[in-house]
Amino acid sequence: MYITRMRSLLLILLLTLSLQACDTDSDPSETPMDKLVPPVKKLDFDTEIKPIFQARCQPCHFQGGQVYDKMPFDKPETITRLGTKLFTRIKDEKERSVIREFLDQPAP
Ligand code: HEC
Repeated sequence: MYITRMRSLLLILLLTLSLQACDTDSDPSETPMDKLVPPVKKLDFDTEIKPIFQARCQPCHFQGGQVYDKMPFDKPETITRLGTKLFTRIKDEKERSVIREFLDQPAP
């Protein structure tokens, strides 16, 4: 008698356990949306912006240059601060559009 009761208890226990397992199994695994949407490509200051100024505005706006203290062009803050003022010296339309894009993107 005792054994039978134990057995049915065990059976119920097993049933509930397997039901729970079933529950989690049937749960459609959620795919987070942000995994499907590729991250927006951001312009990288060091590799895409700085080289423009390095090529054109040396030595004055770089380490050791006469206006480095006031306007260091190796710092993104200087570029965002000066903004379109830079276009008084940057006339190349391709370079301008890259810089414009950089100025438009939200601060990191
Ligand atoms: C021969 C040295 C020299 C070079 C090269 C140079 N600059 Fe300058 N720049 C200066 C000096 C000096 C000043 C500071 C003038 C002042 O104190 O107002 C200045 C100031 C500026 C200013 C702020 C003044 C303004 O016009 O409103 C900007 C913007 C600027 N430079 C951008 C550039 C850019 C962009 C380049 C490269 C395409 C460049 N500079 C290359 C020497 C230089």
